Amino acid sequence: MDSNVRDPKMQRINNKELAQAFIDEQIKAIKEQVGDKKVLLALSGGVDSSVVAALLIKAIGKNLTCVHVNHGLLRKGESEQVIKVFKEELGANLIYVDAVDRFLDALAGVEDPETKRKIIGKIFIDVFAEEASKLEGISFLAQGTIYPDILESKGIKAHHNVGGLPPELNFELVEPVKLLFKDEVRVVGETLGLPHSMVYRQPFPGPGLGVRCPGAITRDRLELVRESDAILREEFAKAGLEGKVWQYFTVVPPFKSTGIKDNKRTFEYAVVLRAVNSVDATSATVEEIPYPLLFKIRDRILAEVNGVNRVLVDISPKPVATIEWE
Ligand code: XMP
Repeated sequence: MDSNVRDPKMQRINNKELAQAFIDEQIKAIKEQVGDKKVLLALSGGVDSSVVAALLIKAIGKNLTCVHVNHGLLRKGESEQVIKVFKEELGANLIYVDAVDRFLDALAGVEDPETKRKIIGKIFIDVFAEEASKLEGISFLAQGTIYPDILESKGIKAHHNVGGLPPELNFELVEPVKLLFKDEVRVVGETLGLPHSMVYRQPFPGPGLGVRCPGAITRDRLELVRESDAILREEFAKAGLEGKVWQYFTVVPPFKSTGIKDNKRTFEYAVVLRAVNSVDATSATVEEIPYPLLFKIRDRILAEVNGVNRVLVDISPKPVATIEWE
């Protein structure tokens, strides 16, 4: 059977026993494929790459090198969590690359959404390839490909995330979760002991907060997106909505409006709240956030995020809107 085709008889991994059996089997398979050679992995902190990292650490330990690229468009606390979980707790060989200035300088003044995506995708590959070229003796590249990526080669990841791998990254691939569906990857991640917040996190686009800072990305607006997003996520978690609402985030459009604070006129940005439910991202309905919760989030954003004087709610379904603003 084609190694990219899932055996229809394969049981859905929906409990820890099945997940443990899968883990044991994959550890054996990885050891057989890789031997004592070295493997490289781009570790974003997303579910798929995190589960692949945890599996490889169990199978080959220090022969795995993880590269975490901070492009400046990550959510608050994300890089810190990757370092804490993988370097400190799992003892991974982790290279942290602070590429924030490189990305934000290249994106300065760029308004077109697809050009923004292309720049982010290209610099990501460049930075990763540069790190790879500094390392000696890498033979394999591990990837968090999952089954929907294979099934829908025109799917979200393939559609949005531009560019293939350059020749210097042309290693043999290690793709231990390529026949699994997302829910199965999550059960495997949990069984591997990864934190709940990492395993059950909502979908997060490759270009990160960059698509939530519509138009040309500026550092000040990006900071407002990051801080307001952290408040929204914290309040949703407190209200028990984490893992129940499919995707929720904030957007800070590139215009200001007037407000009033301490009897003085202000001219500041607005934060848009967006929360949607979906099955496969091709369509989405709007989550009805209860008003008391909305007011709590509004109060916190207006009090804690400096430079914002207005909070709005996006109630547009997909279609006619898309989930992200660009
Ligand atoms: P839209 O905005 O097209 O989003 O309704 C559908 C889903 O895809 C995510 N998304 C992306 N994911 N790279 C990604 O990996 C991207 O460029 C990208 N753009 C949107 C979005 O967050 C939603 O879950």
